[in-house]
Amino acid sequence: MREFWIAPSILSADFARLGEDVDAVIAAGADLIHFDVMDNHYVPNLTIGPMVCEALQRHGVAAPIDVHLMVKPVDRIISDFAAVGATYISFHPEASEHTYRSLQLIRDAGCKSGLVFNPATPLTWLEHVLHKVDMVLLMSVNPGFGGQAFIDTTLEKITRARALIDESGLDVRLEVDGGVKVDNIGRIAQAGADTFVAGSAIFGSDDYAATFAAMRNEISVALD
Ligand code: DX5
Ligand code: ZN
Repeated sequence: MREFWIAPSILSADFARLGEDVDAVIAAGADLIHFDVMDNHYVPNLTIGPMVCEALQRHGVAAPIDVHLMVKPVDRIISDFAAVGATYISFHPEASEHTYRSLQLIRDAGCKSGLVFNPATPLTWLEHVLHKVDMVLLMSVNPGFGGQAFIDTTLEKITRARALIDESGLDVRLEVDGGVKVDNIGRIAQAGADTFVAGSAIFGSDDYAATFAAMRNEISVALD
C-alpha cells in the first residue's frame, strides 16, 4: 500500500506569523511543507527564497521541505536551497537550459529531485530522465498563484504518469499541485497521485486537523 502524503503550501500561510503557522500544520498532520519559490520572471508573482527556508529551519521546523522552484534560471539557486536544508527540490524543465544537468545537480547536492509539469507540458520530458527523478509534480493549475480552480484534464495526465512510473519499477512519487480540496482529493488519489499539495484548502480552513482528517478520509474512501 502506497503511503499518501499531504503537503500544505505555505503560499497561503500568514507570512506575518509564518513559523507558528507552519508549526500548526505540522501538528495537524502535514507530511511535507510545500515551499513555492516565484521570481516574477518565469511566473508572474514574487515570493520567498532560501533565507525564509533557513529561518524556518532555525525556528525548529523538522518536517521535510518540498521546494517548488518557479524560477529561471534554475541551476544557480539549487545549492542555496540544499545548504538550508531542502529535502525535495523541483523545477520546471522549460525554465532550465539542461534538464538532465539540473536533476543531477539536485541529487549531487544531497537532495531529492523533482520535475514539474505545467498543464500543457507533455510527459514526454520524462522519457530519458525518469531514472534521475525522485518526484514527478503535475501542476493542476497554471503556476503563479494559490486559490485557482483545479484543471480537470490533469486527472487523465495523473493516470498516464502513474502508468509510466509503475512500468519503470522506480521509486518515484507522484505529486499534484493546484486546486486540491477535500471534494476532489479522492478522485486525484484514484487517478494515481500519492502526494497532494494543498494551500488555500488547508490554510484557509478554520481547523487544520479537521481538514487533514477529511482529506485522508476522502482518499481512503476513494481507494476502498
Ligand atoms: C501555484 C503553487 C501552488 C499553490 C497551490 O503556482 O505552485 O503550490 O500554492 O495553492 P492552492 O492549493 O490554493 O491551489
Ligand atoms: Zn507549488
